[in-house]
Amino acid sequence: MKILVVYWSKTGFVKKYAEWLGEELEADIISGKEVTKDKLKEYDAYIFGGSLYAVGINGTDFIKDNIKQLEAKKTAVFATGASPAKKEIIEEVKNKNFSSEEQKYFKFFYLRGGFDYSKLGFKDKVLMSIMKWKLNSKKKKGEEMTEEEKGMLASFDNPVDFTDKENIKKIVSYFKKGS
Ligand SMILES: Cc1cc2nc3c(=O)[nH]c(=O)nc-3n(C[C@H](O)[C@H](O)[C@H](O)COP(=O)(O)O)c2cc1C
Repeated sequence: MKILVVYWSKTGFVKKYAEWLGEELEADIISGKEVTKDKLKEYDAYIFGGSLYAVGINGTDFIKDNIKQLEAKKTAVFATGASPAKKEIIEEVKNKNFSSEEQKYFKFFYLRGGFDYSKLGFKDKVLMSIMKWKLNSKKKKGEEMTEEEKGMLASFDNPVDFTDKENIKKIVSYFKKGS
């Protein structure tokens, strides 16, 4: 089975998972910026991975445009965000990005990434600075903060990396064992 891993990554976390998957499954990997419909035709199975930006998954337009044509082929989609891999977060991400009809064409996974402010582009830095400002003013007012918000605030100064090769096991076994 010839597998292609297509990834959309801004600061490297999704790319790292794509590379691990490529090694483990002996699959080819390609950036979402370079992939074409013709390229997809060369393969029998696909893994599409994108990072989360305000709950939207990078690369969904391309995935949605192509999944129906790939109907008979084994396909997995994974999202990578800074949030912990909690069931309700994963369901929210899946359902906000794909209709129930679209979800029939692939199996969905969530692989936790990390956060590296220093590697963000200008636009994302501005967005995140607004978030940082909001979190800091919450802190100053003594309002209660969730563990996630505290973690987010701390990660502006020190990058956090929750990537773990163990996380890809579910996807690997889906392709190797079919479950
Ligand atoms: C503007 C912005 C919005 C984000 N929104 C989310 C989000 O909704 N959920 C989440 O889990 N992570 C969110 N993140 C964190 C990224 O998804 C996370 O850093 C991811 O690992 C980045 O992967 P990449 O480097 O492959 O693009 C956001 C980051 C930025 C800069």
